[in-house]
Amino acid sequence: MTKVLIDCDPGHDDAVALLFAARHLELVGITTVHGNSTLDNTTRNALALLELAGLETAVARGCAGPLVGSATHAEHIHGSSGLDGATLPQPTRQPVAAHAVDFIIDQAERHRGELVLAVIGPQTNLAMALRREPRLAGWLREITVMGGSTTTGNVTPAAEFNIYGDPEAAAAVFASGIPIRMVGLNVTRRTGFAAADVARLRGSGRRVAAVIADLLAFYLERQREAFRLDLAPMHDVCAIIPYVFPELIRYGETFVQVELTGAATRGMTVCDLRSLHPGTTLPARLAKTCNAHVALEADSRLLINRVIETILTYP
Ligand code: BDR
Ligand code: CA
Repeated sequence: MTKVLIDCDPGHDDAVALLFAARHLELVGITTVHGNSTLDNTTRNALALLELAGLETAVARGCAGPLVGSATHAEHIHGSSGLDGATLPQPTRQPVAAHAVDFIIDQAERHRGELVLAVIGPQTNLAMALRREPRLAGWLREITVMGGSTTTGNVTPAAEFNIYGDPEAAAAVFASGIPIRMVGLNVTRRTGFAAADVARLRGSGRRVAAVIADLLAFYLERQREAFRLDLAPMHDVCAIIPYVFPELIRYGETFVQVELTGAATRGMTVCDLRSLHPGTTLPARLAKTCNAHVALEADSRLLINRVIETILTYP
């Protein structure tokens, strides 16, 4: 069974990714970061979700802001708590004493060559960990990222939230040489829960599913207001799917750079898709060494059904 550590900023779609991963994979820990809400909120939300689901995974608190500048939060999407819409249980456990940066390094060393690090929030903790312990790059099996896009962004026309939240960190991660899988908005924004899916969870009569239904009803409403999207996108679970149902998302190997200086494009993931288009063979002088597998297509409906079935396995 794949060993995974999830670095996250829960967040409605992070919540679903955590429950999904805990059911299918060996979840060795959760680290929290600034992002959808403050670090205090994302950490409390992670602990509350574990309480809800009856899980005892260790949680380590991470960085409260990006490497450069100040934190960007997404209150208009996730509410002031980062996880509005449902009453979650009060956490009875505390985060572990170790900082997320040290926790990531320790777990990667312990599970050398085996650990997949799933980064589904801004990439500050990982960038800091790579700076603190350069051997980390050789210890991780791979990184799976929800972030970026091969097309348009959501915070700006060019930038997706997790990359926009710490572009310098993302640039360091993409330059690290660690094998990377990136699933971006081009796939995740059309892979989501419709109102009928939320109703299916609510109608199941299950306690955990009912809470998730309340959360996703709130999140769906906010997607309608913010993006006129009639779907609650499950961005983050898409980064976990390849280790459970690999046939559901198809990737192409490319070179990805994070734009740091563009006045209108800061935080953009510039994906060199030229060689992936049929009939376009990139001249060798233009081809850079590929550094990531980037998601191009998903079987979105099937994927969401698998996620629903998984949530329904909880009491
Ligand atoms: C990403 O940003 C966050 O709001 C979501 O949790 C997801 O990780 C989507 O752009
Ligand atoms: Ca997230």
